[in-house]
Amino acid sequence: MDGSSMKTIRNCRINYRTLAVLVCVILIVGIIYTKYFHFRNSGKTWRPIDLVPLETCVGSTCILSNDTSAGMKYALYFQPRKTKVNEFVYRFINQPTDTCDPMSPPVLIIIVPSSPSHIEERKAIRSTWGSVSHGEKWPLQNIKGKAKLVFLLGITENITTLQKIQDEVNEHNDIVQCNFLDTYQNLSLKILSGIRWTYLKCPDVKYILKADDDTFVNLPLLVATLEGYYHKVDRNGAIFGNINGDAKVRRRGMWKVNEIDYPFPHFPPYAYGNTYVISANIAGRIFSASEYMPYIPIEDAYITGILAKVIDARLVFVSGFTFWLDYKPNYCDFVNDNRISATKVSFKYMFYLWEKIHSSEVDC
Ligand SMILES: *[C@@H]1O[C@H](CO)[C@@H](O)[C@H](O)[C@H]1NC(C)=O
Ligand SMILES: *[C@@H]1O[C@H](CO)[C@@H](O)[C@H](O)[C@H]1NC(C)=O
Ligand SMILES: *[C@@H]1O[C@H](CO)[C@@H](O)[C@H](O)[C@H]1NC(C)=O
Repeated sequence: MDGSSMKTIRNCRINYRTLAVLVCVILIVGIIYTKYFHFRNSGKTWRPIDLVPLETCVGSTCILSNDTSAGMKYALYFQPRKTKVNEFVYRFINQPTDTCDPMSPPVLIIIVPSSPSHIEERKAIRSTWGSVSHGEKWPLQNIKGKAKLVFLLGITENITTLQKIQDEVNEHNDIVQCNFLDTYQNLSLKILSGIRWTYLKCPDVKYILKADDDTFVNLPLLVATLEGYYHKVDRNGAIFGNINGDAKVRRRGMWKVNEIDYPFPHFPPYAYGNTYVISANIAGRIFSASEYMPYIPIEDAYITGILAKVIDARLVFVSGFTFWLDYKPNYCDFVNDNRISATKVSFKYMFYLWEKIHSSEVDC
């Protein structure tokens, strides 16, 4: 070996040593950097959110810009408050006892908020689309055991109505009743009571369907659709429905929201409240988030918009879910599996649809 090639080898050794030192330095700096930021971020005061809206409003001043301080205010709104602003202090005074068998849990829990006086509506749901959940057949299909249905109620001062509810409880064992006053303004509370009941009593269920008591749901089609959507559910969860991407906040009238509770002119995208599905893996987190975020009286915008954004759940548009301006359904929509759900269905119309769906004479 001559002198010059020896030198090359020595140079190489030196380069390796330099490289090793460099790698060590990078590692140490990296560890300190991540530890520091981990520490900073675990304080829960600020977690970066990448979603800065185009239009940002604070109070009544709206600007269309990249103004980060306004964007920051929007992002900060969706951080859980430091202390509880709505502690859930209510308890269940009635609840079904055998809805969820831990050995064979259902895929889907259906929660139907219902007014105490809506006895006929509940009867119709139990006898028609809801009967599928206890083994009645949708024509040609049986999803027995895969879906279970409960009604959500609050309390009323009307003793006669309370007694009637007790009779229903004894006969059907499908009522989840919580001790808050049953009013329209308490609807968010009612849905949250159903979400809470589900994660306490049915921890292994996959999905929760919220359906109003004037809706009609093609349960076999819904269950089949959801089973095909498992891949959309990651650990942050997913909410499925007909998505309202651009809802303006109203400051007066029936859907009035106080600026102090929600100061921006638009809601985040949310699923229309007539029927929507929450993946059950986030039931507990949705409920917890609700205790730290001010209530607004628009139940769907609150739960599937605001709370979903707080916990970073994904919204998934599914064709076939109904929305508030949807037309009253035709039985052929269900015979042909064109719709998952429909709204504006009175209890009389439920019986009519059910009869037609099962009739061998319909021509669709
Ligand atoms: C926002 O920022 C982008 C790029 O940073 C820029 O092109 C655009 O003009 C900005 N818009 C406004 C309204 O300032
Ligand atoms: C209580 O409810 C019943 C129907 O369940 C109704 O007929 C009655 O008028 C109500 N009573 C009061 C005091 O509102
Ligand atoms: C909601 O329920 C609570 C508990 O019963 C009650 O105090 C409150 O008045 C109700 N809120 C509205 C707006 O009806």
